[in-house]
Amino acid sequence: MSDTTNLRIPGPTSLPQSVREAGSRQMVNHRGPEFKALLGRVTAGLQRGFRTTDDVLILTASGTGALEACIVNFLSPGDPVLAVSIGEFGERFAAIARAFGADVTKLDVEPGRAAEPTAVAEALQAMATAGRAPRAVLLTHNETSTGVTNPLASIAAAVHETAPDALLIVDGISGLGALPFETDGWGLDVVATGSQKSWMVPPGLAMVSVSERAWAASETATMPRYYFDLRAARTSADKGETPWTPAVGICFALDAALEAIEAEGYEAIFARHAAVGAATRAGLAAMGFELFADPAHASDTVTSVRMPPGADWTAFSRELRSRGLVVAGAQGRLAGSVFRIGHLGDVQVDDILRALETIEAGSLALGIPVTRGVAVEAARAAAAAAGRQLVGSGAV
Ligand SMILES: Cc1ncc(COP(=O)(O)O)c(C=O)c1O
Repeated sequence: MSDTTNLRIPGPTSLPQSVREAGSRQMVNHRGPEFKALLGRVTAGLQRGFRTTDDVLILTASGTGALEACIVNFLSPGDPVLAVSIGEFGERFAAIARAFGADVTKLDVEPGRAAEPTAVAEALQAMATAGRAPRAVLLTHNETSTGVTNPLASIAAAVHETAPDALLIVDGISGLGALPFETDGWGLDVVATGSQKSWMVPPGLAMVSVSERAWAASETATMPRYYFDLRAARTSADKGETPWTPAVGICFALDAALEAIEAEGYEAIFARHAAVGAATRAGLAAMGFELFADPAHASDTVTSVRMPPGADWTAFSRELRSRGLVVAGAQGRLAGSVFRIGHLGDVQVDDILRALETIEAGSLALGIPVTRGVAVEAARAAAAAAGRQLVGSGAV
C-alpha cells in the first residue's frame, strides 16, 4: 500500500507523520523514568478525551481485549445483563458476556437503526419484573458495522432512571475521540476505546475508563481474569507502569497523536467529523447510492452504503483499490450487500472528495449506473452547510 492510497476503512486509520515518527523511536525501559512520564502524560490526555476524572487504563490489546476487560472485571457468572445490540459489535459484546457466564438478555435492534431510549427502559423494566434486575447494561456508542451512532446521552439517562443500580458499560471504540462524548456527564461507568480508530495510532492499545462505582463492583466480581485484571493495571499505573510489558512504540505514537489532537482541539475535531460525515453521505446519495443507516442516526465516523443491485462487492472493491481507494466490506449478515467508508481520525473533506471521484469513476468503469459529475459538488455543499468547511485546514 502506498502513501498516496486513500485508506477509507473504519480503522486502522492512517497515521499523521508525527505519529509515524514517534512510533519508530528507540525503546526505553518500560519500568524506568521515561516510560513513567510518558504513561502519566498519555493517561492525562486520554482522561481529557474521555471527559472523565475516572481512572483510564491502557492495555496492550485490540479493542476486543478491552471489551473482555469490561466484562470480566465487573461481573460474576449468572449476573443478569442487558446487551443492547444494533449490529455486529453489539453481538460481540453480548457474546463475550455469555462466554464468561453472564445471564444475557439481548435487546436486538434492526440493523441500520439506533436503539431507542424508551425500548431500553422497557427491556430493563421487564427484566426487573421477571426478578432478574440487570447488574449491567452493555451499549455500543458507534456501531461500526452499520454506521449508526446511538443516542448515548438519552439512553444513559433512561438507564439511570429505570435501573439506577445497573453499571453502564460502553463500547466507545469507533466514536470516542471523533464524536461528542461525555463519560462523566452521561454517568458512564466503564468505557472502552482502541488506538487504531479516531486516535490515529497503530492497532495494539486499548483504553478503558473505570468509575468508582465500577471499582467497587470489581471487588466482588468473580469472573475469571488475569491478563485483563484492571486492578493489577491500576496498581501498576499508580507506580507509572503497566503490569505486563506494554506496546512501548504505540505508547510513543499515542503521545504524539494526543499532542496533535489537543493542538486541533476536540470541538474542531468534532466539527471536522461532522463535515466529512455529511460530505460522504451527500456525495454518495447524489450519485444514486442508497445509504444504509437511518439518516437521523447516521455516524460521522463511518458510512454504510448498499451495494447497487447486481453489483459484486469483490469486483467493486478490487476496481476501487486499483484506483488507489480502499473501502471496507461489511460483516456478518450484511457481507456482500453493504460496503463501508471510514472517515475518522486524520481525515479532511478533501480526502472524501477524492474518494467520491474514485467511486464515481470506478462504478462507471464497472457499468454501475451512477449519476456523473454531481457528487463532489453535493459533498462540498453538505460540508459547507454543516458550517464546518475545513478543507485543507491541515489541522491535524
Ligand atoms: C465498535 C467496535 N467495537 C469493537 C471492535 C473490535 O475492536 P478490535 O478489532 O480492535 O478488536 C471494533 C473494531 O472495529 C469496533 O468498531
